[in-house]
Amino acid sequence: MRPLTRRQALVLGAAGVGSVVVGGIGAAQTPLPWSAAPPDAHGPGGRAGGGVTPDADGATLVEPTVLTSEGGVLEVELEMAEREVRVGDVTARLLTYNGTVPGPTLLLRPGDTLRVRLVNRLDDVTNLHVHGLHVSPEGNSDNPFLAIGPGESFDYEIVLPDDHPAGTLWYHPHHHGMVADQMFTGLYGAIVVEDDLPAGRVLVVSDISLTEDGGVRQVSQPERMMGREGETVLVNGQVRPRITAAPGERQRWRVVNACTSRHLRLELEGQEVTVLGVDLGREAEPTPFGDLLLAPGNRADLLVTAAEGAATLRALPHERGGMMGMMGGATASSEPVTLATLEVAGTPAEPPEELPPAGAVRDLRDVEPAARRTLTFTMGMGGGRGPGGMTFGFDGRGFDAERTDQDVAAGTVEEWVIDNPTPMDHPFHLHVWPMQVVEAAGATVGPPTWRDVVTVPAGSRVVVRVPFEDLTGRTVYHCHILDHEDAGMMGVVDVRA
Ligand code: C2O
Ligand code: CU
Repeated sequence: MRPLTRRQALVLGAAGVGSVVVGGIGAAQTPLPWSAAPPDAHGPGGRAGGGVTPDADGATLVEPTVLTSEGGVLEVELEMAEREVRVGDVTARLLTYNGTVPGPTLLLRPGDTLRVRLVNRLDDVTNLHVHGLHVSPEGNSDNPFLAIGPGESFDYEIVLPDDHPAGTLWYHPHHHGMVADQMFTGLYGAIVVEDDLPAGRVLVVSDISLTEDGGVRQVSQPERMMGREGETVLVNGQVRPRITAAPGERQRWRVVNACTSRHLRLELEGQEVTVLGVDLGREAEPTPFGDLLLAPGNRADLLVTAAEGAATLRALPHERGGMMGMMGGATASSEPVTLATLEVAGTPAEPPEELPPAGAVRDLRDVEPAARRTLTFTMGMGGGRGPGGMTFGFDGRGFDAERTDQDVAAGTVEEWVIDNPTPMDHPFHLHVWPMQVVEAAGATVGPPTWRDVVTVPAGSRVVVRVPFEDLTGRTVYHCHILDHEDAGMMGVVDVRA
């Protein structure tokens, strides 16, 4: 299926055009029933009031522009600027890469060089992180310590090793203290490292809260403490877009969880969904779709074999803990959220080809780790720099870019115990080096499972093994609830020969 441009989709979808007009007028003239509610009347996990909830405009799913490498190089300019963007049936002012939300999709092959001129037309400092790429964290590569000021631009050069795993990855800003706000306002885009199957389409899921005048709502201190969840969940920047397919057609959906804090437990009732992979590569044994939980930052590579009829892609509620009444603190809304609709009709498609087998997946469980260390998520009361005076960190310390927390010898495999004694779940993300999850929820993991974000539920631990191979440098690990990361829940790892 050839992706439509947003304009084509609006022109072609008669229902879409109708609802744009009607919805637009309605939104402008009719005060929403809860718009007069005082801020935070619904608690930190719910609607904070004073905003507008855009409605679907009936449009078909629109793919972000795809920029493809040629002759081993992809050279792009990413201009970061505030722009007016259509979100469902409202016009919003968002932060964008090249004018769209999400930004363009970067399509790469192993061994490619990615050159990005990042142009900062924001009012704040920013930088670029290529989440999940196994590339150098130094210099002008995937360096989270860079700070690119307003009005400045910076040339990144990111070299993928020849044996870089295929997968769905993504990019977003990473300047400590501003990450959650910048991303929540629209700054994210997908990266695909191709394998031999057709690349498929990306579905970048994000959430956002809009004000009456189309701006992005400031979040409260309790929301930062819990990790904000936006009132509206978007797919490729759209509100409940329509996806169409022929009966029997197989589509590859690369789902990116670009939400600041929201976990996604997906559901697509009545349809056959196979999980090809999560984050990087193929799964040795596919996780059943029903068991899949995408933490913020995770990606799923799905194969949907369409069955005649209509289905909704939904995110089911997920409870991720709270501050035990202190802040009113539940983090999950109790209702499922509709992300998109799937309409399957028309002439049946040719039966899809057999999938090539996944191939061997590396297993580090028979390697004796060169070191074992424990990293503990910590949240303390009082005296901290975080929301509500709390200290968010690891091992009792908040982030300090000058301090190295973990010194690792390059060329070794380490075992890290990620311990979470706090009352909230925290998704653990390590830059550059993928992690093999060997123990989760008190049980050993069966087939080899590789992730670059792994959620550590409240009061539990996860054990991972990390091959600190072929790349050296200083970078970070952090909670991917980006409000927590900005509040200090981040540490520095230095891998040296
Ligand atoms: Cu997607 Cu350091 O993060
Ligand atoms: Cu966290």
